Amino acid sequence: MQLADSKNRLHTITLKPGGEFHSHRGVLRHDLLIGAEDGVVVEDSHGTRYQALRPLYADYMLSMPRGAAIIYPKDSAQILMWGDIFPGARVLEAGVGSGGLTTALLRAVGPEGRVHSIERREDFAEVARENVETFFGEPHPSWQLSIGDFQDVAPTLSPEEPSVDRVVLDMLAPWECVDSAAEVLVSGGVFLAYVATVTQLSRTAEALRDHGEFTEPYAWESFVRPWHLEGLAVRPEHRMNAHTGFLLTARRTAHGTPALTRVTRPAPGSRLEEELNHPDNEGFGGSGGDWEPQDLGERGVAPRKLKRALRDIRQGRDR
Ligand SMILES: C[S@@+](CC[C@H](N)C(=O)[O-])C[C@H]1O[C@@H](n2cnc3c(N)ncnc32)[C@H](O)[C@@H]1O
Repeated sequence: MQLADSKNRLHTITLKPGGEFHSHRGVLRHDLLIGAEDGVVVEDSHGTRYQALRPLYADYMLSMPRGAAIIYPKDSAQILMWGDIFPGARVLEAGVGSGGLTTALLRAVGPEGRVHSIERREDFAEVARENVETFFGEPHPSWQLSIGDFQDVAPTLSPEEPSVDRVVLDMLAPWECVDSAAEVLVSGGVFLAYVATVTQLSRTAEALRDHGEFTEPYAWESFVRPWHLEGLAVRPEHRMNAHTGFLLTARRTAHGTPALTRVTRPAPGSRLEEELNHPDNEGFGGSGGDWEPQDLGERGVAPRKLKRALRDIRQGRDR
């Protein structure tokens, strides 16, 4: 249960018959809450009042014991929408970390769907299993957890034919998983990666383009700015979380059908030098990894435009 006092200070407790919640103010007997309606107000031994509510998914997520960093609710909400996680979907996820995102995926796919999570660290997998089972109150029938690297485990799942609708990756090097994701994804399936840095974002986007059977990657980040609501002081909160991560999606094209995209130059440094200078990549390498202004998005400025700018400045000065 989540207990909130009159100043909205929160405490999360697990109820046990005969159990007690001790705060510096007093003692609250769990038996007052067991069997009570959701949202009741109870009093501890010193008369401090608490409103008691069952935690929502977001409450659970934020108070969940964790080893690895979790995906925050603002990002898992985006993942469910833009990863197109639908009831009945077959989702392959890695890594599982503390099980935060897994819980959201399991709720979204429902009893007809499947979530298969792959985690390379056994100790993290154990924490995730405990968190997921605590949230659902029992082992979830639609969940399977495998220990290993995504790149190794994914291709063994159904080697005869692709059997995954969505691949969701939250790990340091998702670009290393692009080939195996492409193998297991059904045609039209969604690839989604959540990464913390622009370097990871760039490498993953380049790997998707390199593969050739993914649509042009789409990347974004989201900001949530909470608001303070008190009397006439209705304004944004002074503090907000300025950075969590970036999201990147692309769709798998029909197996064997290259993506219909414009040819873009790969970013220097995104690949090994030998690869950039390989004869097959003629036109992309050649400069020994040096970058050109266009690589960073700079567009040439037409001399006419410069002339016009100078004319405008001089005319303004004369006036
Ligand atoms: C940031 S955590 C994931 C957190 C998780 N999404 C959550 O909400 O709790 C990243 C995890 O990916 C795992 N990992 C990294 N690379 C992996 C790979 N190639 N295959 C499987 N797991 C991997 C790490 O061990 C780590 O547990």
